[in-house]
Order: sequence, then structure tokens, then C-alpha cells
Amino acid sequence: MTTQRSINGPRLLQQLQILADVGRTDTGACCRLALTDEDKQGRDLVVGWMKELGMTISVDPIGNIFGLRAGSRPELAPIMTGSHIDTVRTGGAYDGNYGVLAGLEVVATLNEAQQMTERSLVVAIFTNEEGARFAPDMLGSLVYVGGMTLEEALEVKAIDGALLGHELKRIGYQGTSALGIHKPHAFVELHIEQGPLLDIEGIKIGAVENLQGISWQELTITGQSNHAGTTPMYLRHDAGYAASAISTFVRDLTRSMGGNQVGTVGHVVLTPNLINVIAARATITVDLRNTDEALLQQAEQALNEFLQSLAASEGVTITSRRLARFEPVEFDSALADRIAHHAQALGLSNRRMTSGAGHDAQMLARVCPTAMIFVPSAGGISHNPAEHTEPADLIAGANVLLATLTELAH
Ligand code: GLV
Ligand code: MN
Ligand code: MN
Repeated sequence: MTTQRSINGPRLLQQLQILADVGRTDTGACCRLALTDEDKQGRDLVVGWMKELGMTISVDPIGNIFGLRAGSRPELAPIMTGSHIDTVRTGGAYDGNYGVLAGLEVVATLNEAQQMTERSLVVAIFTNEEGARFAPDMLGSLVYVGGMTLEEALEVKAIDGALLGHELKRIGYQGTSALGIHKPHAFVELHIEQGPLLDIEGIKIGAVENLQGISWQELTITGQSNHAGTTPMYLRHDAGYAASAISTFVRDLTRSMGGNQVGTVGHVVLTPNLINVIAARATITVDLRNTDEALLQQAEQALNEFLQSLAASEGVTITSRRLARFEPVEFDSALADRIAHHAQALGLSNRRMTSGAGHDAQMLARVCPTAMIFVPSAGGISHNPAEHTEPADLIAGANVLLATLTELAH
């Protein structure tokens, strides 16, 4: 039997603020793109905290960091929690960071209570979850579970042209632990929802049972530069026009499909990008997601057909480069039940839900029973410096994590 304990809320909130100040920009955003100097500073800070907690640190060759709190039966597979501490360029304080620091707070709480668990606890920090600098997203956890080779991952090129392998070495985080070290008995990731449902419904805890499929591609459209004043409309091969037509098509497609289909053109670069020059080239990204694999494939197919007809009608060429493709994931239903049970026992309203965002948990689900705990995001805002979760909700989620991990580790 285990006693009901509570984490130290003020300490968790303070550590979240200290980490959020690493890579803070003039506009208040958290900017710790993967494997930059700012990411290194964040890693050094959190590894320091792990050491203060007496944890044993391992770093694997893709830069994933693991802090281990030994259990009384080290021969048993450990219980793992954690998330990521890289951010998008305009990130908030909680995405990823919350799951890692709440994991450390669970360890601190157990240490203070001198409570031993049978299974060891591992808090993981996975490399490049965001995918904002290096594609695909969830790259560190993907390599950890064997879904991508280390060699392939080290060769990935950043949006700024840097090589992932070089950057990993440069910041001193290419470790030597075996890939797949600490293969877990179960994985639980605590995260802010990043969407509006819990906030709108006034519910405190989401027991996440599945996660939608993700399709990312980069399209390069090649047309012909020409004079904006002299070129008749019927003689144009306008890459800029084609880029906006694709963006409009993606929106119309999601509208006509309805349901859970979402689509985003989040990155557009025109060349030469001048007022009086028809664009010769456009590079854009398309992010399509759906909880249903067949519908996601249908969306990809519709986009593909549109690209072919657009290329023909505008006289441009369009090439596609795959950046990420992950099928929808079902989490472990029994584990989601335990999360709901612990939320209930703590007097917290809760519901089953789907994750719209990608998470390291979707990769861990390939190797062990996995589920996630969500807490509300005010206004459903995330990937935005205004990302906010009420302190009481952050503390409540960490207490659900504490109860869930403690139970799993016994
Ligand atoms: C990761 O944050 C993603 O869902 O894009
Ligand atoms: Mn995240
Ligand atoms: Mn994110």
C-alpha cells in the first residue's frame, strides 16, 4: 500500500520559471530550438537538478538524457516518465518542460518522504521533440525505440543548414549509453493539452487514450521569375500564386472533410520575394493530421491530385520531400484508466481524450504500455509565448503523475 502524497507545488512552479528564462526572447517567448546553445543551457540546468536529486544520468548517442532513481529491485524494468525541453522558436513555458520538471518533482517528493519504490523511476528528456529545427518531430524518442537508425538521424539537416550530428557533438550531448537504455515497463507523459477542450469544459485532467496521425511534407514549387508589370497574366508561371492556392486548398479540404481533419501551411518562403518580381520559387510546408489513418491517407491523396492539376494549369513544377509521417496511435487503455482513477481519487474532474499534438509518448507506445496525462491550456493557446496553465492545474497534474508513477513502480 502507498500513502497519498503531494508534490511541492511552489518548487515545481519556480523551476518552470527558471527554465523558461533560458532562451527567453525580447518578446517573452521561450526559444530553445533543438541542439542550439540555448538548448544546451537548458539541458545543463536540468541535468544539474537531476544530479542534486541523486539521480544517475545517462546520455545516449542521439542526445536523449535519462535520470534514474534506483528502486529496490533493479532487476525489474523501470517506470519511465518525461518529455522534452526543446521548444519551437516562439514557444511558451510549459510545452514539454512541464512533463520533465514534474517528473523531477515526483522524484524530489519521494526522496523527501524517503519512500523507496520497487521499480526504478526514470525521467527522460528526449532530443528534438518539436521538429521545428530538424525533421521529423519526436526524433530522439523515435531513434530510442528503433524507428529510425542513429546514422540516418545524425545526417538530418536543420532548417539553418546545420547537421544534427555536428550540433549534438558541438553542444556536448552525444552520449555513449546504449540506444534503448532503461527499456521501460511503462511510460507516462504529463503534458499541457495545447488545445481548448479541457479549458472549455472546465475539466481538470485528461486521460489521453490516443493521438492523431501526422503527415508533414515540404513542397518546392518552381516557376519563372518575370516582370510584374509587363507579363500578361496568361503568360505567368507564378510560384507565389501556386503556394497560396495550395494553402487555400488545404483549408478547403479540411472544411469539406470535417471531423478531425486539420491542415496547416505554416512555412512559406518565396524567391526572390520582391514586390515587382513574379516568384520563381516557393518552398512551403503542409502539416495534415487526423485520428483516422484512412481519412489521413484520403487527405494526402486529395492534396496530391490538386498538386498535379495545379502544376499543369500554372506551368510550374512541384516536388515534395517527406518530413514526417506517423500513423495514429492508440495508448494503453488500462493505463489511461489508472490515470482517470488517480484523478478521481484526488477529487479532480477528468475525461478520456485524444491528443492533437505529437508527443514522445507516441513513440514509446511502440515498446511498452503508454498513456498521457493532460492539464488545461488557457484558451487552448500553445506554440505561442502566451501559453498558460493555471498554477493549481499544473500542481494537480503533477500530483496525478506522482500517484500514477508510484502505483506503477510498486
Ligand atoms: C509537436 O509539438 C507537434 O505536434 O507539432
Ligand atoms: Mn510538447
Ligand atoms: Mn510543441
